[in-house]
Amino acid sequence: MSNMMNDIESVLFSKEDLEAIVARLGEQISRDYEGKNLLLVSILKGSIVFMSELMRHVTLPCEIDFMAVSSYGSSTESKGKVKIIKDLDINLEGYDVLIVEDILDSGVTLFSLMELLSTRNPKSIRICTLFDKPERRRAAVKADYAGAEVPDAFIVGYGLDYAEKYRNLPFVGVLKPEVYEEN
Ligand code: IMP
Ligand code: MG
Repeated sequence: MSNMMNDIESVLFSKEDLEAIVARLGEQISRDYEGKNLLLVSILKGSIVFMSELMRHVTLPCEIDFMAVSSYGSSTESKGKVKIIKDLDINLEGYDVLIVEDILDSGVTLFSLMELLSTRNPKSIRICTLFDKPERRRAAVKADYAGAEVPDAFIVGYGLDYAEKYRNLPFVGVLKPEVYEEN
């Protein structure tokens, strides 16, 4: 932890902040999806920490599934269309799908993903993102549920990575620019 901390400029959300944000989202979702056929679709790998906490705050019966798509690789900019690395196991027909994502940035990833998943005839499809960077949006995507808006800075922790590292930090912090400018 100590050497990872050297790469963090500032802490944006503490463990406690994150717990409160996720609990609030869970309550909202539990209210809105009453009587529906909820399927939580976690986008790997960034959303795993959020997903595992969020599902415990959903008080309705629901199912979960996972999908992995590529967007960033090791850099900090989105490149265009997503590529499916791991597809869902569940056939979406008849489900009220809620995509669980770590952060909505340019929106390129979720835009293509929404297009793709919509062709599979879900009953409904919506987006729940832990973080939203609205200033950075390039694609026409809006989060139906957003935990918090974040400034245009590269953040890590609580599942979010830089070059696959820092996902295990229990808080969310801004990465020092020199960490990614070195590479
Ligand atoms: P988008 O296609 O630009 O919206 O990119 C979304 C994906 O980029 C997210 O699922 C994250 O994996 C990654 N991403 C965007 N911003 C950040 C950040 O500040 N920290 C870590 N990952 C990020
Ligand atoms: Mg990522």
